[in-house]
Amino acid sequence: MRAIEIIGTGSCVPHHTITNDELAQSIDTSDAWIYPRTGIHAREFCTARQSTVTMAVEAARKAVADAGIPVTGIRAVLVATMSPDFSTPSTACFVSEALKLREDTAALDLNAACSGFIYALETARGILSGIQEMEQGDAPLYALVIGAEQLSRLLKLEDRTTSVLFGDGAGAVIVKLTEAGRSDYAITLGSRGSRDILAPGLYTGAIDKSVDHMVMDGKAVFVFAVEIIPRLIERVLRLSGSDLAQIDYVLCHQANARIIRHVVRKLQVPEAKFPMNMERLGNTSAASIPILLDEMHGNGTLRGGEKLLLAGFGGGLTFGGMQLRFRPEDRT
Ligand code: ACO
Repeated sequence: MRAIEIIGTGSCVPHHTITNDELAQSIDTSDAWIYPRTGIHAREFCTARQSTVTMAVEAARKAVADAGIPVTGIRAVLVATMSPDFSTPSTACFVSEALKLREDTAALDLNAACSGFIYALETARGILSGIQEMEQGDAPLYALVIGAEQLSRLLKLEDRTTSVLFGDGAGAVIVKLTEAGRSDYAITLGSRGSRDILAPGLYTGAIDKSVDHMVMDGKAVFVFAVEIIPRLIERVLRLSGSDLAQIDYVLCHQANARIIRHVVRKLQVPEAKFPMNMERLGNTSAASIPILLDEMHGNGTLRGGEKLLLAGFGGGLTFGGMQLRFRPEDRT
């Protein structure tokens, strides 16, 4: 089957740190309330000169450099975001301009909230597979897949039920189209239409004009997340014919440490298999998984050859699980 594998990573987090203690100076909250419930101590917010576009471009440049490929090999740019600078041109078109990508490169933004990065990876596989079928060429085909969010724009500081949870950032990967066996790639995507649980803000249409920032039924999100993550993992493993023991790391959307620990206990696996970084960054929605990937690559946790399982869940509701390989050619 045609699959994708990750061959390079990059990220950009703005260095404007807001700690829980700093938030507590403006609103009625505390580190003692936030940290035990979420695992979050701090988040990064964009400065006046930063945005979804600037972070996406910086993360993209780093991913291209890390992959060591010429930009002429990139045939698709996908940006998963629910907080684009503009509805059009897309964030992806800004990235295409900044990196001077070739004209026959597909470029689009995609919104599946916190599951967006996984949706974007699978969309990239589809686009690259189509190019392969059409052109029948020998040159390797690459896509740039980015998750980028400036969620600070969607928050209302005074609403402590959401303003303490989210942060800004971007992560990017270069994926390569490859031939692989079923045990090397699997994907499951899904959705359950529901506006009641999570309404990610700035709605300006006719259905409900009262929502002017990110609102959420926290308890319902928690119940949804701890139900769907184990099911995504089980579905992906069934599709790939793998066992969880054969997976090196499960990268869950970094919404909340309590959600991930709940899953770890349910599956009775070592917590080290489920890396987390929301302590410093908060929940960065579609950017959380690619930022975590880049951190793990940067600190030597990922060395190449790993089998990864990604699990995302988010507003919509949407969800997605994916199994894929990380730089298999680096395995020595
Ligand atoms: N600081 C202090 N007190 C707060 C805060 C805050 N930031 N937020 C709410 N409270 C208060 C409430 O007003 C309430 O007070 P009351 O009892 O006087 O009415 C009390 O704390 C308890 O509120 P709950 O909403 O019941 O708090 P809960 O224990 O459920 O924790 C939380 C809330 C952390 C959001 C939890 O429900 C949760 O973890 N949900 C998962 C949500 C999540 O991770 N969302 C991520 C975004 S969605 C996504 O990424 C897919």
